[in-house]
Amino acid sequence: MKLKETIFVIFAFATLGFLYSCTNNAPSNNSGATASTNSATAPKAPVNTSLAAEDTSTGRELYVAQCAKCHKESGEGGEVVLDGRKMKADNLTDDRRKRLTDEKMIKVMVDGIPDEGMPSYKDKLSEAEMREIVKYIRVDLQKMPAPPPYPNSTVQPQ
Ligand code: HEC
Repeated sequence: MKLKETIFVIFAFATLGFLYSCTNNAPSNNSGATASTNSATAPKAPVNTSLAAEDTSTGRELYVAQCAKCHKESGEGGEVVLDGRKMKADNLTDDRRKRLTDEKMIKVMVDGIPDEGMPSYKDKLSEAEMREIVKYIRVDLQKMPAPPPYPNSTVQPQ
């Protein structure tokens, strides 16, 4: 596990260094060039968690378009009346929903919960889009700690 983490950190830095060396904002200590050519000497530092946050923009757009009218932009849900039907959308940020696995969340989207008023997204969202939504829920709504692994989640933002 420790070794895996170390490899992940080195990889993240090699990638970052490479990206930086492609911009005109070259890092002052020249670590970018070193990291991209020789990852063994890449500097050790905490994983840049802001990468994960930037990565959720697709999920956010989809969530706002598809889910927010019931679960609210904050994810906290509550009572909603839609087309004259009153329902109570679950709080996606609570501990119960944090414990749902990614697969379970995707299944909820695929099947919907017809009895309770949640529609099926089987024909509206691709599986990749559903995974983007799950990632957004994990990172921005549930504030699950990044870097991965998130508990119960296969989402691995990089
Ligand atoms: C029309 C309203 C509505 C929309 C739109 C909606 N939901 Fe829901 N959702 C609900 C309701 C109502 C429940 C609570 C069902 C219950 O009480 O069992 C729920 C429950 C859930 C749950 C919890 C299931 C569980 O077993 O704990 C998840 C996760 C969820 N929704 C995700 C989403 C996602 C992701 C989207 C967007 C792709 C979405 N919902 C869109 C109404 C909605």
